[in-house]
Amino acid sequence: MRGPLPHENQTSESVDERTHLSNGKLFGEEHDQVQKDISCETSKCSTAGPGQVNCSQYSENKQLFILGCDIDKVLIQRATEANPYPENITFQEVDIMDLTNSSKLFVDFLATHQSAGLFDLTTCFSITMWIHLHHGDQGLMTFLHEIAKRTRYLLIEPQPWKCYKSAVRRMKKLKLPIEWLSLNDLGINKDVVEKIETYLVTECNMEIVQRLGETEWERQLLLLRNISFSSDSCTEKHAAVLK
Ligand SMILES: C[S@@+](CC[C@H](N)C(=O)[O-])C[C@H]1O[C@@H](n2cnc3c(N)ncnc32)[C@H](O)[C@@H]1O
Repeated sequence: MRGPLPHENQTSESVDERTHLSNGKLFGEEHDQVQKDISCETSKCSTAGPGQVNCSQYSENKQLFILGCDIDKVLIQRATEANPYPENITFQEVDIMDLTNSSKLFVDFLATHQSAGLFDLTTCFSITMWIHLHHGDQGLMTFLHEIAKRTRYLLIEPQPWKCYKSAVRRMKKLKLPIEWLSLNDLGINKDVVEKIETYLVTECNMEIVQRLGETEWERQLLLLRNISFSSDSCTEKHAAVLK
């Protein structure tokens, strides 16, 4: 049986560090911004960016709309109850790997908030390992395709191989079932971070805009841009915001 993985205890500092880009400032102020956060957990990442700005008017007459989603119903309920901007942030239970339901959710959200049919930014913090362990190498690639679709920018924090080993250790310590979890079955393993980056660039039409360094958890943060959707490049304005 495939079970849940025990949660890691991430600090609020690491959340702030990862979300400083998600307040809409990176992407110009000419239209409302629409973002989604995959695996929002209890909302700390989804709301950390907007918390620094006035979500309903992040720039003159422009709004920021965010969809936070997670497979865990209880976490979504908590996030919804604690939502500081219910008009601008929506939390929704969805399994990102259930492609029919997740696509419908994203398309409907975009139709409600923006006619261009694209998210300005998709954030994915600490979820790649979960997907990889539950869905294997092929599932990880399907996931990367899905998150690269319908978004101009992608901010991703791929989990390195040492996280997989710690997850197994944590599960053993907590006496959780681990028979389903065989790291030996994964063809993508020690160089998983590099493989994720290469796949996004070579198979998903993305380019690296900036390597944003490492979090205090020694995980890389990568900002990528989908080259299918935009003629703009990493302009001086973008570079200035990223400094
Ligand atoms: C380690 S937590 C990361 C939470 C948050 N993004 C952060 O970095 O603080 C991983 C999250 O991914 C969610 N998750 C796992 N598989 C998922 C899936 N197939 N679809 C949506 N969310 C998923 C889990 O419920 C959990 O909340």
